[in-house]
Amino acid sequence: MDASSLRAQEETGSGQILVAWHTRSSQARIHDHLLGGSLNNALDRTRAQHVLKADPLAAERARAHRTFLAFAVRHMLAHGIRQFLDLGSGLPTCEPTHRVAGRLVRDVRVVYVDNDPGTVAASQLLLTDVPGVIAVNADVRDPDAVFQHPGVSALVDLDQPLGVLVVDLLHAMSDLDHPATVLTPYVAVLSPNSRLALTVRAGADPRHRETLRGWLGGLHPVGHGIAPLGRWVGSVLAAGVESDLATIAVRVPGKREARGEAPVSG
Ligand SMILES: C[S@@+](CC[C@H](N)C(=O)[O-])C[C@H]1O[C@@H](n2cnc3c(N)ncnc32)[C@H](O)[C@@H]1O
Repeated sequence: MDASSLRAQEETGSGQILVAWHTRSSQARIHDHLLGGSLNNALDRTRAQHVLKADPLAAERARAHRTFLAFAVRHMLAHGIRQFLDLGSGLPTCEPTHRVAGRLVRDVRVVYVDNDPGTVAASQLLLTDVPGVIAVNADVRDPDAVFQHPGVSALVDLDQPLGVLVVDLLHAMSDLDHPATVLTPYVAVLSPNSRLALTVRAGADPRHRETLRGWLGGLHPVGHGIAPLGRWVGSVLAAGVESDLATIAVRVPGKREARGEAPVSG
């Protein structure tokens, strides 16, 4: 289903998101507009102009983080990952995870997680005919709600490598949410060879890298390590975007697992 058929559904009143669609804006739809998408309303576009006034780099930033997301998905596919958990996903538009992956590999499973019910309802409509891809309404700060969601437990096999994507999300959380604590339960369940891709709006302060390193728990950064977004994306970016930080980190198998033995638990 595309944006125009989604709107058509709403106009006939059959979509649950109709009520909210025209009367309020949403972070995901503002983001869609900044990415160059068309699944947004006039209110979202006006809000996007306010965002751009406060941060003239907002559109470039959104696109650069999304480019990194696509890179991370391809990287993970190349390392055998076939299931993805996209946290704080926004709408599955503008080169979303399942499209990037689906172009390269069949039978990929993707779970999109967002805490905005309207975003999730719209995502579910867009994904109606897409097998193996679901959108789940949950707060990433509540990992039990994510992992115990019946759709997630049916689709995701935690004994297999999982790709976790946390792209352009953590800035939305206050320090009180302790981003490190948010990530810990996700990192904890990753089986060997799982990977986590992470971006943060950080600025050039080197302390941010150390903070990020701490958030990765026992995962090992690969490729450029914990590096400015510009190095990963490989294109010229404005300084204020280039210095955002990104990393991909892997759960390295323990010696027993590398020998094909089951890990020691407890
Ligand atoms: C910047 S947008 C989309 C970012 C997207 N990951 C990307 O790479 O383009 C951030 C999204 O995160 C969602 N979000 C914010 N806080 C969240 C939370 N605590 N749990 C789940 N989703 C959240 C918002 O509703 C929004 O759709």
